[in-house]
Amino acid sequence: MVDSLKKPAFDEIRPGVKAPAKDTILTPRFYTTDFEEMAQMDISPNEDELQAILEEFRTDYNRHHFVRDDEFEQSWDHIDGETRRLFVEFLERSCTAEFSGFLLYKELSRRLKDKSPVLAECFALMSRDEARHAGFLNKAMSDFKLSLDLGFLTKNKKYTFFKPKFIFYATYLSEKIGYWRYITIYRHLEANPEHRIYPIFRFFENWCQDENRHGDFFDAIMKSQPQMLNDWRAKLWSRFFLLSVFATMYLNDIQRSGFYACIGLDARDYDIHVIRKTNETAGRVFPLVLDVEHPEFFSRLDTCTENNVKLAEIASSNTPKFLQFFQKLPLYLSTAWQLLRLYLMKPIEVTSMEGVVR
Ligand SMILES: [Fe+2]
Ligand SMILES: [Fe+2]
Repeated sequence: MVDSLKKPAFDEIRPGVKAPAKDTILTPRFYTTDFEEMAQMDISPNEDELQAILEEFRTDYNRHHFVRDDEFEQSWDHIDGETRRLFVEFLERSCTAEFSGFLLYKELSRRLKDKSPVLAECFALMSRDEARHAGFLNKAMSDFKLSLDLGFLTKNKKYTFFKPKFIFYATYLSEKIGYWRYITIYRHLEANPEHRIYPIFRFFENWCQDENRHGDFFDAIMKSQPQMLNDWRAKLWSRFFLLSVFATMYLNDIQRSGFYACIGLDARDYDIHVIRKTNETAGRVFPLVLDVEHPEFFSRLDTCTENNVKLAEIASSNTPKFLQFFQKLPLYLSTAWQLLRLYLMKPIEVTSMEGVVR
């Protein structure tokens, strides 16, 4: 009886196998690309750096890192109710995002094998890392008596097509933001161990180094293709991808501030820190970055999160669906307007020689 109170209700596709979260504009995506175009890319302008990164991947620093130790071997039933729901959701989202990387990198390594061996091997070794990350998270879900059927996800989730250039912008940013997310949680819990209520966070230090190396790989690939970084289109797309990645994370995390609170973090402060750091990092490769210090930057995002709260209230009300549409419309328009204004905000040009192969 008590158990049913402790166990939040999740939809299951089979006993113990969680039904994947519904796809929305804010859920982690799966990607596919133009493999032929990628195979034809000439990486020689930055081949030395790519070769050096490949050597690092081969070294496999985290070969023995992802091993569950004794601390996992206990009952986690004391993490219950809403905290448990938030935990499972965090693990699921993280696992899906890691697995998305695995699928894309694996497919790229397969398709590039005979045509672009250096890239193919880099992708194979990155997919090795992402498989470990996703597997470790899925195993953590089983501590909460649930898991994800990754085979089912592979077959049933929608894939978003991006041209190689956009794959590079998007994956570069998601690897670097992943690095800053993991390391920020790790350092916070290192300073405040009383909030480390589950052992997985201890693994984030070495784990985030994988993401950092993956990000460096995409940095090096983009630098081998200067045409992807040095024209007006590159500037517009850099702004677009920076804003999409930051806004998606912000809206997601503020909506789930309960999760961050249970590990002693303020979701908003955490996100602001991660966004600042990722933006700064992106300046090493992108021709420009966003002016995140501008007072309007986060206040506009806050308006979007407030709209989201209202949208959720409307969706869970008893108002008939067609009336809900008219209640929601001004909120969607307001969010679109805020995002447009954010997009049009004057960016910061990266004036150094970064982004140019030297
Ligand atoms: Fe990863
Ligand atoms: Fe990664």
